[in-house]
Amino acid sequence: MTSNAASAVSQPGGGGAGVPRHVAIIMDGNGRWAKARGLPRVAGHRQGAEAARAVLRAAGEAGVECLTLYAFSSENWRRPETEINDLMGLLRLYISAELNALHREGIRIRILGDHRAFPPDVAKLVDAAVAKTAGNSRMTLAIALNYGSRAELVHAAQKLAARVSAGEIEPERIDEAMLDASLYTSDLPPLDLLIRTSGERRLSNFLLWQSAYAELLFVDTLWPDFGGDELRAALADFASRERRYGGR
Ligand code: FPP
Repeated sequence: MTSNAASAVSQPGGGGAGVPRHVAIIMDGNGRWAKARGLPRVAGHRQGAEAARAVLRAAGEAGVECLTLYAFSSENWRRPETEINDLMGLLRLYISAELNALHREGIRIRILGDHRAFPPDVAKLVDAAVAKTAGNSRMTLAIALNYGSRAELVHAAQKLAARVSAGEIEPERIDEAMLDASLYTSDLPPLDLLIRTSGERRLSNFLLWQSAYAELLFVDTLWPDFGGDELRAALADFASRERRYGGR
């Protein structure tokens, strides 16, 4: 462990015996999965929601404390309206169908991003799911909805600026820990492992600050084909890596 300022913010500890405490996934490749089968894109998203279910279960069994899934980026608004409606419909379905089971299993749902831009009934469902599961502590499922990392950083800067102008803090006192605490992820464990499926090797505006010391894993598997076995392989890959956080 180093003693520099950054270490106060996000020195990921890792769960017991090389298990990452926090895994985040860019679930990519639903469209290509559907296209390869001559199916509409929504069929890929539907299968993607099934994959999310399987991966959540496997992550919980492995002892991962927090799983973050990138379900809708702030750039996804550029997709055709019909596809956006399909994604909203799937969110409705996923939350209504899964909420009781998630709650029974002690899973806390957290949202990263601004889901207030979603249709009011979806936003309400999301709020109700967050409220119902707020007291759970076995595991956290964080869903990134209308999320963009740069917007999150801008939002954090605004929060800190407001505290400065209210006379609560001096600008010079703003440090990495304070900025970290102003992000949507403030109450989540530090990010240990970031996975992107489907062969793309970009972060696409996802958890840019949080991934400073995360291990990155890019796999070719399309998201709908990613399941418990693929997650376990990713965790084994993580366990084999040596993390130095800038030290030697
Ligand atoms: C990327 O594939 C995937 C998305 C934009 C949406 C992800 C949504 C789900 C998996 C369903 C809902 C999940 C939950 C947890 C409620 P893409 O469409 O960009 O695929 P492509 O790159 O092959 O076109």
